[in-house]
Amino acid sequence: MATSALAGKSAVVTGGSRGIGRAIVMRLAADGAAVVFGYRSDEAAAKQVVADVEAAGGQAMSVAADLAEPAEVARLFVAADEFFAKLGISGLDILVNNAAIALVKPMTEVTEPEYDRVMAVNAKGTFVAIQQAAQRMPQGGNIVSVTSMTTVMTRPGESVYTASKAAVEQFTRVAADELAERGIRVNAVSSGPTDSGPGGMLRSSTTAEQRQQVAAMTPLGRVGEPEDIADIVAFLVSPDARWLTGQNLRATGGLVKGC
Ligand SMILES: NC(=O)c1ccc[n+]([C@@H]2O[C@H](COP(=O)([O-])OP(=O)(O)OC[C@H]3O[C@@H](n4cnc5c(N)ncnc54)[C@H](OP(=O)(O)O)[C@@H]3O)[C@@H](O)[C@H]2O)c1
Repeated sequence: MATSALAGKSAVVTGGSRGIGRAIVMRLAADGAAVVFGYRSDEAAAKQVVADVEAAGGQAMSVAADLAEPAEVARLFVAADEFFAKLGISGLDILVNNAAIALVKPMTEVTEPEYDRVMAVNAKGTFVAIQQAAQRMPQGGNIVSVTSMTTVMTRPGESVYTASKAAVEQFTRVAADELAERGIRVNAVSSGPTDSGPGGMLRSSTTAEQRQQVAAMTPLGRVGEPEDIADIVAFLVSPDARWLTGQNLRATGGLVKGC
């Protein structure tokens, strides 16, 4: 059942069809926001998320759009405008940049198309989404980007992915400066290893044994769950976080501290 914390608010979430993005969609909708989320290809999963939101009393719509293509990102936002207008909501209140792809390969083996694809989806896609959202947030609003603890705890094989997330973190800092005069807050959440389900980023890039090792290294004794990240996003877009902008919260169960 939807609550009222975000009643009358609109939210766009990228990569909402599964994993962490799905949890963010469910949480923002449960808080009362109308949510439009993007995905790339898994239409069945996206439809299921819409059905799950509606079954819980919320409002959501999904849009297939490849974040690597600026015209498709623009189409996602135009579709969102139309959905929100039908609900009597004008403008955009919340953007959550969540979608990303991973690439685990030694630097010496990364091909140019692989490099370009990761940068196009993760960095350029986020940049263009911020541009689109900022045009629709005349006064006030929140932008949150999901990044990764790999920018401070690097791992072999993650050069391009890590660089793409470093770009997202710098976009966050500069956008916080540029958009502050309009009361728009811009923050990031650095996820630690999070079990985003079968086919999700963690399970695709690690063995079960590696996940157990990471859980053992983590002060709070487990890997993350998608809801761990979604709840932090919900906090950042809430009035309780009104004094936070340009921040990067390390949501890692203590694996990465501060910094
Ligand atoms: N899971 C972790 O351990 C972990 C750790 C650190 C940071 N993160 C970050 O957390 C976020 C979510 O991770 P996750 O594990 O939940 O990911 P995930 O399960 O792989 O889900 C990715 C989502 O992004 C969408 N997506 C992928 N490529 C896209 C594209 N080109 N255009 C539009 N949408 C696209 C996917 O849609 P389709 O299914 O239709 O392709 C899906 O909805 C990412 O930013 C990731 O970097 C995750």
